[in-house]
Amino acid sequence: MEIAVWRLIKILILKPKYLIGSAFLVLTIWTLSGIWGCNGLLSSTTNPTDQPFRNLGDSAHYVGIAACKGCHSDKHSTFIETGMGQSFHKAERKYSKADFNNVKPIYDKKNDLYYYPFWKNEHLYIQEFKLRGTDTVHNRIEKISHIIGSGQHTNSHFWMDGQHLYQAPLTFYTQKGIWDLPPGYEEFNTRFNRKIDIECMSCHTGMPTTEMGADNIFKKLPLGIDCERCHGPGSLHIKEKTSGIIYNTNKQADYSIVNPKRLPWKLQVDICQRCHLQGNNVLKPGKKFTDFRPGMHLDSIFTVYMPTQKGNTSFVMAGHAERFQMSACFKGSNKGDLTKYNANINFTCISCHNPHVSVKKTNQEIFNNTCKGCHNAESRKSKLHDCRLPAASRGASTCVGCHMPSSDTRDIPHVSIHDHYISKSNTKFKLDNQPKSINHKPGEIIGLHAVNSKNPSNSELFNAYVSYFEKFDPKMLYLDKAKSLYSDPKAELSVKIQYHYNLREHAAIIELWENGCTEEQRMALVSDAWTQYRIANAYDRVIPNQSQKALLYYEKACEAMPWNTDFSAEFTNALVRAGRYDQAKGLIKEALKHQPKSEQLHFNLGNCLARENRIGDAIKELEIARSLDPKSQAVLILIDIYSKTAPNKAKALLEDAKKWANPRTL
Ligand code: HEC
Ligand code: HEC
Ligand code: HEC
Ligand code: HEC
Ligand code: HEC
Ligand code: HEC
Ligand code: HEC
Repeated sequence: MEIAVWRLIKILILKPKYLIGSAFLVLTIWTLSGIWGCNGLLSSTTNPTDQPFRNLGDSAHYVGIAACKGCHSDKHSTFIETGMGQSFHKAERKYSKADFNNVKPIYDKKNDLYYYPFWKNEHLYIQEFKLRGTDTVHNRIEKISHIIGSGQHTNSHFWMDGQHLYQAPLTFYTQKGIWDLPPGYEEFNTRFNRKIDIECMSCHTGMPTTEMGADNIFKKLPLGIDCERCHGPGSLHIKEKTSGIIYNTNKQADYSIVNPKRLPWKLQVDICQRCHLQGNNVLKPGKKFTDFRPGMHLDSIFTVYMPTQKGNTSFVMAGHAERFQMSACFKGSNKGDLTKYNANINFTCISCHNPHVSVKKTNQEIFNNTCKGCHNAESRKSKLHDCRLPAASRGASTCVGCHMPSSDTRDIPHVSIHDHYISKSNTKFKLDNQPKSINHKPGEIIGLHAVNSKNPSNSELFNAYVSYFEKFDPKMLYLDKAKSLYSDPKAELSVKIQYHYNLREHAAIIELWENGCTEEQRMALVSDAWTQYRIANAYDRVIPNQSQKALLYYEKACEAMPWNTDFSAEFTNALVRAGRYDQAKGLIKEALKHQPKSEQLHFNLGNCLARENRIGDAIKELEIARSLDPKSQAVLILIDIYSKTAPNKAKALLEDAKKWANPRTL
């Protein structure tokens, strides 16, 4: 689910010289998931697969759900009614499960901002506004491009700035029927600036691809999870079927495509937990989120780390796979042979779920019968136990009603899901049908554990702790753990740099980069944009006014990811501070073509023009920046400019800025 992928880092950069006082300009940068340590040179040590399926290699490619429909219309017609089939849509009225009648604007108290959704000419918009008395002093409206979430639990909303995909700050929670801020935004409202990247989309729709050089520009973005996410790429299969190569699949496998029931139980679970297990997903060196194909070992592509809690009572929304695998039923049924699957012995997700049919259309008896299939008089003899239910309620009883209670989650407000941890203690009712309360409060976090991998290496754990701190939860516990793994001989240079970056140890980064590594290690990181960026940032902070090295590395970061607006914003900001105005303006204008609503870029341009004393043009750009973000640093320059030309305007801006700006900047 969504909250997990975001984390904001504030980067303090020396302020433009003419602002009053000695303040810092606070710019924001999104952290990318999965970029660190990924230099493309190393390959995984684990063999991704040992399966005979022929669509696991490069010769097979994705063709989309429409291509399967013709021959498998039965599967298709029910699948498109499932949550997975409807997971992602264009923003059209028929796909929205939200209620637009009498919506009251949602108020974000922390930021004094209101949000309001509305349709106009069959387009969906989200409005952000701010009031002073009855005056609207800020008003931003963005057109919604996509709706994510079938509405089984929520509808969240995306918008596009140029080709860049972002989340919009309003979600509809269908189970309670209410609008509210998206998960995580009540704590930190990122407004319209949360990037939607490949990690997020690779769990929520058909296999996407990104444009090189940007994390939130998609070349291909299918609408809805499709057949090939569980069956693997279909081109080879279709080629063979249309040319008449047909097998009797009752007797033998068709290896042109993966039928999950032919996979060993563990690989079968790996398909589902590719998506139904959302933690800190740490990629193996050289791997991408789009590399996993059904039939592969998930831990050859990435390892999923979850916080280890004392008591382990709370869980995340997309965590069914972990909860299920904690169950004694799962452990007891899947002992021993990892290489086989026997539907009569093994216990996996598909023992209960037919993924082509929605749970909403699935009779509860199907679930209950699965339990009874193992927990019956016969099996009792073979050491499985029957539930000691009161005889009276036993016949009519619903096993899952008690043993898979609905529950709220640790990460997503206003939703409830079914806890898949089946146990004696985790029941909704006691045997006498009296309600039982279960404690799902988050326990004390004592570290991280790998869910889908037995013995992760220390260097990977090091990576996991550093990235967990950066992406999810800025508690020192994680960096302390990382510190104890820092000197592991296999710890990656890029992760060490990231570690120091998070501690703001700029001198340590420079020391490590200049004296603490080999030329070969440095070369391997030339196209690792984040490492280049972090090095630039360290030079920028440690050696003020000697920005040559900072500029050099900012430029390398931009070369590695040309359409990453955060990098261009940082680079051009540094150019402006270095007085290289023409170069800065050229780059900013180029970047604005791709992303016309970047507050940072408009601010940089305004800042540059102000320094060139082109006050009229500067005001224009700075006002755009302010209209995009009422807390833009542009406000501080505008106050300065207006104090000479329009004192009333300056005063009004100052009054407002006092509420949010660092007092030292005013
Ligand atoms: C590791 C895979 C994974 C990642 C990454 C992930 N999600 Fe999810 N998300 C899921 C799964 C699985 C569910 C469904 C859980 C359920 O139905 O209980 C879900 C549920 C949701 C839902 C609710 C859907 C509904 O109506 O039931 C929304 C909205 C959502 N995620 C948005 C996002 C966004 C936005 C991001 C990225 C910023 C994201 N998710 C990242 C796996 C993921
Ligand atoms: C031209 C018709 C055709 C198209 C298009 C087609 N299939 Fe099939 N598919 C078949 C036939 C016929 C069989 C059963 C005989 C066989 O597998 O040779 C089959 C079997 C399968 C099986 C079972 C294989 C096994 O070993 O049990 C799966 C899974 C499958 N198809 C998935 C897909 C998916 C996913 C797509 C779209 C990417 C797709 N098919 C497109 C005709 C087609
Ligand atoms: C979420 C995972 C998932 C998705 C998505 C999915 N399937 Fe399946 N599919 C399975 C599993 C698991 C099985 C094996 C079920 C079993 O036999 O118990 C299966 C079996 C099949 C089979 C062979 C068995 C049979 O009953 O004929 C075909 C054909 C098939 N799927 C086609 C499709 C098509 C077409 C789509 C898209 C419209 C699709 N599947 C989407 C998981 C999925
Ligand atoms: C590509 C990622 C992905 C894979 C692979 C995947 N799921 Fe899902 N699944 C999701 C997401 C995301 C949702 C929530 C979609 C929504 O409601 O918007 C979901 C929803 C579901 C639901 C509830 C929706 C409904 O209507 O029934 C079930 C059940 C489910 N998945 C089971 C499975 C099983 C079983 C497997 C493995 C065979 C599997 N999924 C594989 C991502 C995935
Ligand atoms: C594939 C077979 C299988 C299925 C299906 C199955 N179980 Fe189990 N279950 C087991 C095994 C094996 C054990 C462990 C027995 C042991 O260790 O003595 C077990 C143990 C349990 C326990 C005791 C766990 C504990 O905390 O000690 C409960 C409760 C339970 N099952 C309930 C259920 C319910 C409810 C369902 C359906 C939702 C279900 N089981 C489905 C095989 C199964
Ligand atoms: C013992 C049967 C059983 C098994 C095994 C099982 N589920 Fe479920 N699952 C259920 C039941 C029961 C529901 C609730 C259905 C309803 O809404 O009535 C459910 C619901 C779901 C949902 C919808 C969200 C929610 O929690 O209400 C998702 C997603 C899901 N399961 C995923 C999985 C995945 C992934 C696996 C394997 C890791 C799995 N399930 C294994 C019984 C099972
Ligand atoms: C009214 C709620 C309720 C219902 C309905 C229910 N159970 Fe239970 N079940 C419990 C409780 C509570 C326990 C724990 C009893 C204890 O602590 O010894 C339990 C224990 C169990 C055990 C472990 C028995 C042991 O001694 O190890 C199994 C297996 C089990 N249930 C299976 C089932 C199955 C199968 C069904 C459906 C036929 C079912 N339960 C229906 C509440 C329920």
